[in-house]
Amino acid sequence: MADETTAPAADWTPAEQVIRSRRTSLLVDPERAVDPDLIARVIDSATWAPNHKRTWPWRFTVLTGDARTRLGTAFAGVGESLGLDPKKVESQYTKYVRSPVVVLVWVTGDPDPVRRREDRDATAAAVQNLLLAATANGLASYWASISDHFHAPARAQAGVDDNHDFVALVYLGHPTGQVATPPRPEPDVVWLS
Ligand SMILES: Cc1cc2nc3c(=O)[nH]c(=O)nc-3n(C[C@H](O)[C@H](O)[C@H](O)COP(=O)(O)O)c2cc1C
Repeated sequence: MADETTAPAADWTPAEQVIRSRRTSLLVDPERAVDPDLIARVIDSATWAPNHKRTWPWRFTVLTGDARTRLGTAFAGVGESLGLDPKKVESQYTKYVRSPVVVLVWVTGDPDPVRRREDRDATAAAVQNLLLAATANGLASYWASISDHFHAPARAQAGVDDNHDFVALVYLGHPTGQVATPPRPEPDVVWLS
């Protein structure tokens, strides 16, 4: 749904239009698979993020089919053992089948704290690239967090070791509708000359 923040403006480039039209949306058809080549393509776009020292710190796990249920079941098991809110535990079983594709994004941990911070910054930029590439290719996307309790079971499901920090869980799918656009406040900018 175009509005004053997403409607094409005469002077917006196609890239700017994609940036503005990307929305966090789970209005997707869970039964409609996404072509694996398209998933690979948007992940490839992620890797074009800027990266100080060219450490290429990002890692991706693509979950489709039953792998999504296994993730939620692992989370539910941990949630139950920790005595988390039963409603929250129950929701884990079905949460990740709401979209046909779930991508987990990890950053590898560097021992140097500065490098570690910059690698995480680069990986966040990579996630945004992934979302924008999905938007440009007609897919809906949704960047979600997971509770800290679930980082370890997510690593276990993904088969990545403890030296991987969780950055994002991204739902991807073919859209079935459009969500409202949250308005942006004016940027807080100081101009110096
Ligand atoms: C690090 C990060 C974590 C996020 N985690 C969640 C989340 O767990 N649940 C959620 O509904 N949205 C999450 N979001 C998405 C934001 O809610 C969303 O970007 C914001 O509402 C603005 O909407 P827009 O992305 O459509 O412009 C997350 C975004 C970022 C950058």
